[in-house]
Amino acid sequence: MSPAEPSPISQSIPTALTRLLGIRYPIVGAPMFLVTTPRLVAAVSEAGGLGAVPSLNYRKGEDLRAALREVRGLTSAPYAVNLIVNRSNPYREEHARICLEEGVPVYVTSLGSPESLISDAHRNGAKVLCDVVDLGYALKVQDLGADGVVAVGAGAGGHAGRTIPTVLVPYLKSRVAIPVLAAGGIADGRGMLAMMALGADGVYVGTRFIASEEAEVGEGYKKAVLASGPEDILYTARPTGTHANFIRTPYLDKLGTELTWWERALYRSPATKRWAKTLRMLTISRAMRGSAQGGGKAWKDIWSAGQSVGLIEEIKPAGAIVRDMIAEYESALRELPRPVP
Ligand SMILES: Cc1cc2nc3c(=O)[nH]c(=O)nc-3n(C[C@H](O)[C@H](O)[C@H](O)COP(=O)(O)O)c2cc1C
Repeated sequence: MSPAEPSPISQSIPTALTRLLGIRYPIVGAPMFLVTTPRLVAAVSEAGGLGAVPSLNYRKGEDLRAALREVRGLTSAPYAVNLIVNRSNPYREEHARICLEEGVPVYVTSLGSPESLISDAHRNGAKVLCDVVDLGYALKVQDLGADGVVAVGAGAGGHAGRTIPTVLVPYLKSRVAIPVLAAGGIADGRGMLAMMALGADGVYVGTRFIASEEAEVGEGYKKAVLASGPEDILYTARPTGTHANFIRTPYLDKLGTELTWWERALYRSPATKRWAKTLRMLTISRAMRGSAQGGGKAWKDIWSAGQSVGLIEEIKPAGAIVRDMIAEYESALRELPRPVP
């Protein structure tokens, strides 16, 4: 075999997650607002993982429907849709209805109660994974009938938890009966192996796929992912009202990372919390749309990404990212314990 040829990988890596979802590898391409395209979703699913469409990308329900049909036109493998189920998402009911009509096979819910979605999805024969950042919420969604939980640890791109994945994953795994996916900081097969060793049934990978050929974001965003290290990632609630990770840019420096006293008061009070966060999300999403697509003003750049930026050195097709992750996972597994040189 020539050195350029990729090493052969197993046809499948069966776990409780792959069995649940009918996929070959326990890798989910996490949904990323403004980054994940139908092509990216289809490429991950076609490579044996599970791609996930972030429904928030689409303001009009019919655009979401067209995106789902585009995915299905590119692959016959299972895929997922992410629904933000809290009340600050004004599209949640319309989007859920369209997904049910389109027969979406897997849902990933975040931020809010998935109760009604779980029963509707199950009636439709679909599975539901729920994002959680702590044990209380994991137990709650399990009681509601969730089929699996995504343990979103510290360092993840987007809205991230505060507990490091090496603690969160085994902590949840030993306390819930449903499959647990590990999220936060996984960008290669070594990270995947570590999470599986901790008990994860699969991994949920976002930031790595920003630097994929199928992510339709501006070159500036991809270059920032390649050039940044974990020390360039700021964990702040200032842009969206909920704590999330962002790449440090001049715009974020100007915005600041601390909430003002009046934001703290608005987000805390039950009377104002919901509309204050909705308003914040709507304003910031306009700025985020402009900077994700590139071509905007550099001083306005605001880009979300997690600490795994430090592990990403190359833009690759999404299918190659999945295959390379499996190849690295398998070689890292063979190499353990590493001999002393
Ligand atoms: C740019 C970006 C956008 C994201 N958008 C969403 C979203 O719309 N919905 C959601 O549930 N999670 C979103 N996330 C979180 C991811 O789905 C996932 O939890 C996270 O990326 C996993 O951690 P990692 O980035 O360290 O791999 C986003 C993450 C990033 C980096």
